[in-house]
Amino acid sequence: MKTGTRTPLPDFKRKTKGFWKTGELLECTKITAENTNVNSYSFKDPGGKGFQFKPGQHISIRLPLERGDEYRTFTICSTPTRSDEITITVKTNRPNGATAWMHDNIKIGSKYSAAGPIGLFNLVDYPCEKLLLISAGSGITPMMSMVRWLSDRLDDIDVTFIHYAKNSSEYLFSDELSNIAGRYSALKYHQISTHKEDGKIYGLPSQEQISSLINIEDHQVFCCGPSGFMDVIKDILIKNGLNLDHYHQESFGSNVLEISSPMVDKNAKTVTIKFKDTVFVAKRGETLLSALKKNKIVVPTGCQSGMCGTCQMKLINGTVDMNQRGGLSDQQVEAGIILACCSTLTGNVSI
Ligand SMILES: Cc1cc2nc3c(=O)[nH]c(=O)nc-3n(C[C@H](O)[C@H](O)[C@H](O)COP(=O)(O)OP(=O)(O)OC[C@H]3O[C@@H](n4cnc5c(N)ncnc54)[C@H](O)[C@@H]3O)c2cc1C
Ligand code: FES
Repeated sequence: MKTGTRTPLPDFKRKTKGFWKTGELLECTKITAENTNVNSYSFKDPGGKGFQFKPGQHISIRLPLERGDEYRTFTICSTPTRSDEITITVKTNRPNGATAWMHDNIKIGSKYSAAGPIGLFNLVDYPCEKLLLISAGSGITPMMSMVRWLSDRLDDIDVTFIHYAKNSSEYLFSDELSNIAGRYSALKYHQISTHKEDGKIYGLPSQEQISSLINIEDHQVFCCGPSGFMDVIKDILIKNGLNLDHYHQESFGSNVLEISSPMVDKNAKTVTIKFKDTVFVAKRGETLLSALKKNKIVVPTGCQSGMCGTCQMKLINGTVDMNQRGGLSDQQVEAGIILACCSTLTGNVSI
């Protein structure tokens, strides 16, 4: 099947009990230790519904942490061609973080509410004949969904996948990717170890290295990893002739600062927020997310910086000043969808 010409939708042909939706429960069915600090968790719908998503999209899971419920966002790394369950792969970030809680507390049979799947960083919205995937570390997760999907469908396109990890013990899905490359000849897979030896770091991305692996033509490029890594890759690809319209990147937001309206004047005028059946007061100039949090409304969030689209809400009445629109399509913006994390209140609103 040619990706450049296909009907741009995944295969959703199953005779189903319907599809899982935002707010419904996910039940953990399988836990796989990928390495010392990375686990994969598979989930199904307890009622047997299927999952509809585009390869590269993400989901936000509501976690009952000791300090209260919080959402965390994870890319679905399984493929929509196997729609009975979804799998996420989670790297423990720091000892007291939410991901450490997940590693300690998620058991087979545990159930969690979740929101999604969403995200513009996906293969379906950018059909192409030539594809370049580049990732580092846990940024491999969206690429896994894409590669699993393409290889299940035997898509007749040219796929190059370059993955960087600090050392060979940190490679994820290495055996599976070698197997896929063995049976799906369209895939050229390169894994590069950025290891230290005698005080020197080897394997870091360079123009020479990338040019030896791929000749950029009209490729669509998907890149995911730490922000410094993505900056370097983007620069190299631009020098190698990349058309920027074909470049897409996903940030996991590890270094983001929450936009929490610290500068709001305490004498600022108040506005009212109507959220479902509740009305409350907030400060003009505050972000919608900050105002909702103060009123104990738990909003699904990922990056908290207007990049991922997780905190989207429908503005029914009023206006806000939205200073980012990452993860929202033009149609969604026209339909009044806003991002709570980067929308400041300019008047009364109804959400
Ligand atoms: C689109 C997207 C896809 C992602 N995919 C993956 C993936 O596939 N695998 C993976 O391992 N990680 C993924 N992440 C990162 C993941 O969501 C976690 O943010 C990251 O692992 C941080 O770990 P932690 O939650 O344990 O850290 P924590 O220390 O618990 O939190 C890290 C940060 O979360 C923010 N935060 C604080 N309070 C809240 C709150 N109430 N609600 C929400 N956020 C809060 C703060 O900025 C805090 O510094 C993804 C993130 C995004 C945005
Ligand atoms: S949480 Fe990512 S856009 Fe708001």
